[in-house]
Amino acid sequence: MKKELKVSAIKDGTVIDHIPSNAAFKVAEILDLEKINKIISVATNLRSKTGKKGIIKVGGKILTKDEFDKIAVIAPEATVNIIHDYEVKEKIKVSLPDTLNKIVKCSNPSCITNNENVNTRFYVIKKDPLKVRCHYCERSMEKEEIQMI
Ligand code: CTP
Ligand code: ZN
Repeated sequence: MKKELKVSAIKDGTVIDHIPSNAAFKVAEILDLEKINKIISVATNLRSKTGKKGIIKVGGKILTKDEFDKIAVIAPEATVNIIHDYEVKEKIKVSLPDTLNKIVKCSNPSCITNNENVNTRFYVIKKDPLKVRCHYCERSMEKEEIQMI
């Protein structure tokens, strides 16, 4: 007998699946979920083939390109499922673009992006483990130092 309740299916919206368990809340944070008036579920420590995973289900939500890019930075193994009428209509594996515009902050306090009204721009120099370099000050940052805008 199955003892655990699974997170309910959704009718229309987005399911972000295969998030590393410890990154689920970070992904939730960048999604602007407070604006949404449909059911939102965040679950972590769910059993998966490769260990533990997190999952976020957001009714009525369509992700923007910036949100996709942010998820790729935080949870490169995540898949995004677009649900219509209870069916998975599209399954997209997130992927890092070569350039991150207005996605992450520069950790260098003297960088122009921290002092003037200039949007950040980073080049992805290594995907796994992630390493990015600032277009303006050339500071490189690794995954642990990266902060989202
Ligand atoms: N899902 C949902 N509501 C639906 C349909 C699907 O919440 N109406 C969720 C499922 O619970 C699952 C994810 O969307 O977490 C993807 O669904 P599906 O492709 O059916 O699952 P899997 O085959 O397990 O996906 P994968 O191969 O990506 O692991
Ligand atoms: Zn910089």
